[in-house]
Amino acid sequence: MVGVGEGRVALVVGGASGIGEATVDELVRRGWRVVVADRDAEGAERVASRITASGGAAHAVTADVTDTSSVVAATRDAAERWGRLDAVIPCAGVIDPSPSDTLEDASLLRMLDIHLVGTIRCVRAAFPYLCEAAEPAIVAISSVAAHIGTPHRLSYTAAKGGIEAVVRTLAVEWAPHGIRINAVAPGWVKTPMITQAIDEGRLDAGTLEALSPFERLAEPVEIAGAIAFLASPAASYVSGTTLLVDGALTVRGPWPQGVVPPPVRRREN
Ligand SMILES: NC(=O)c1ccc[n+]([C@@H]2O[C@H](COP(=O)([O-])OP(=O)(O)OC[C@H]3O[C@@H](n4cnc5c(N)ncnc54)[C@H](O)[C@@H]3O)[C@@H](O)[C@H]2O)c1
Repeated sequence: MVGVGEGRVALVVGGASGIGEATVDELVRRGWRVVVADRDAEGAERVASRITASGGAAHAVTADVTDTSSVVAATRDAAERWGRLDAVIPCAGVIDPSPSDTLEDASLLRMLDIHLVGTIRCVRAAFPYLCEAAEPAIVAISSVAAHIGTPHRLSYTAAKGGIEAVVRTLAVEWAPHGIRINAVAPGWVKTPMITQAIDEGRLDAGTLEALSPFERLAEPVEIAGAIAFLASPAASYVSGTTLLVDGALTVRGPWPQGVVPPPVRRREN
């Protein structure tokens, strides 16, 4: 478990599942100590116990990003666990697809509360601790859906676009404190959020795969690698940016007419 991140402490909010859980694993693999926060207390405990059982350092806390006092208490707990906090990764999220013209206030406000205000609550609570860290970093989670027109995702895309704007603002405002802040915008990723929607027939796997020139969804670990890079001192001059991790989905253009593209090489797992 010895690695370049040895000694550093990260708080991963939404760390009980999907991209958050993969990020916990990736950071531990790189030698970080990780506090796993989630509103799913059992899930956070399960992830932390799994890490501890395999020789890593992890600690579980319960946090609901829609509740400021819960986030503040969890962040304090995280910072006190090992006496420092070097990075915070607000990764909690849900999807709630609905047509925009009939979107109800309650649903709209809930999505903005979880994703946009939730991210702000997490980074605001972490600020005093990050100010004490040697190389502090924040990595927020946006989505490719904030970069392409995504029907029936009005509240989600509004929140994710907002997160990217927050990243730009805080990159400037908190630079004097040495804090870097960036976002990762994943394409579609094989997490419970997506696989459940596929299983329930709300999303079509083939349609999502066809969006990327690689003709596949991302594995959570492929997003976690980008998050871990941005959290680490290897990204010491990267701030205020959003890194698209979308398998070239957003830059896709047409092949010239008459050219048959070669078959896509399948990835070996
Ligand atoms: N999976 C994708 O294709 C994809 C693509 C782009 C962006 N994202 C974003 O990545 C992030 C993680 O999503 P995922 O796919 O890993 O989903 P996931 O459902 O696997 O994990 C989300 C986690 O967030 C937690 N959570 C939800 N609401 C919470 C709250 N109020 N307070 C605390 N924790 C809460 C859940 O308990 C869960 O552990 C989300 O912000 C999502 O919007 C996902």
